[in-house]
Amino acid sequence: MKRLRVLVLMHEDLVPPDTIAGLSDEEIAPWKTEYDVVAGLSNAGHDVRPLGVFSDLGVIRREILRWKPHITFNLLEEFHGVAVYDQHVASYLELMCEPYTGCNPRGLMLAHDKALCKKILSYHRVSVPDFVVYQRRRAVKPVARLKFPLLVKSTTEEASLGISQASVVTNNDKLRDRVAFVHEQVKTDALVEEYIEGRELYVGVMGNQRLQTLPVWEMSFRKMPEHVAHIATAKVKWDLEYQKKHGISTGVAKHLPEGLDAQLAKLCKRIYRILEMSGYGRMDFRLAADGQVYLLEANPNPNLAYGEDFAESAEQAGISYEALLQRIINLGLRYRAPWQTA
Ligand SMILES: Nc1ncnc2c1ncn2[C@@H]1O[C@H](COP(=O)(O)OP(=O)(O)O)[C@@H](O)[C@H]1O
Ligand SMILES: [Mg+2]
Repeated sequence: MKRLRVLVLMHEDLVPPDTIAGLSDEEIAPWKTEYDVVAGLSNAGHDVRPLGVFSDLGVIRREILRWKPHITFNLLEEFHGVAVYDQHVASYLELMCEPYTGCNPRGLMLAHDKALCKKILSYHRVSVPDFVVYQRRRAVKPVARLKFPLLVKSTTEEASLGISQASVVTNNDKLRDRVAFVHEQVKTDALVEEYIEGRELYVGVMGNQRLQTLPVWEMSFRKMPEHVAHIATAKVKWDLEYQKKHGISTGVAKHLPEGLDAQLAKLCKRIYRILEMSGYGRMDFRLAADGQVYLLEANPNPNLAYGEDFAESAEQAGISYEALLQRIINLGLRYRAPWQTA
């Protein structure tokens, strides 16, 4: 394998130290992905340079011109503190004719907007929860079309930001309060969906043209009380103590209805293509008791931390962490950007 110069873009607050010796899991957690990717790429034999970015494109440009990386590994999930600006960084790299890992700007734009993505998927008859969008600065009128309980979330934020038990609402007053919360605290439009009771499934997808899906993964809520919604709130995702207390874990989805594995694999590839994604992604689904699957969201560039769902499900498919990072690099190098065919 060729030794490559790999420039890893990351949020400037998440540039990891060289070693994690002596640090606790809690201390490592915020920049674990960044650390794992840098360490994994170095272990794979590459020449790796982490680069912290916040709101200055010049930092990226200078480093690329100076160091001439073979590829830029894109771990940025925002720019200027704005989540939807991540697509512009991919655009910038593409306009510089630089190869980069992960999703292309169009895929980022379509998939990261949970409302836009559902509008497109509905056209293609992909099953998604019924929904409405409440824009900021507009009155919150109740909708008769949707059936309570409803789930209120941000149209564009990720990582369950703003999602807690209070996101599941059962009447119009609570709906209004929670929409106001998303508008004022999360500071984005609000997406209100019918709440889908059921199992929580994740499926990884890799590829540009030829796609591969990873084994179906499931989040379990073993010790979570029955009266509490079994959903991936921010606490469920990120609070290690809370996870222990409520028996939250993820692993291979067992005892799925017959044929669902193949059905999901096919569905994921369709969604990935409809949303023009490339590189790697992860689809989040709910499986209702009647066997119907609903897409909750399509994640371009999902969390790549070692031991997280995407890497674990790859491992299950026989792809080691280093091999996974290498594949992501290969896909980035092979991606045919429009400028190459213009
Ligand atoms: N319509 C829904 N019905 C049931 N649970 C939902 C619904 N929408 C979101 N959730 C729960 O909230 C979690 C986070 O929502 P998601 O749309 O995946 O946003 P994020 O980008 O924050 O991961 C999901 O993993 C799921 O547990
Ligand atoms: Mg999600």
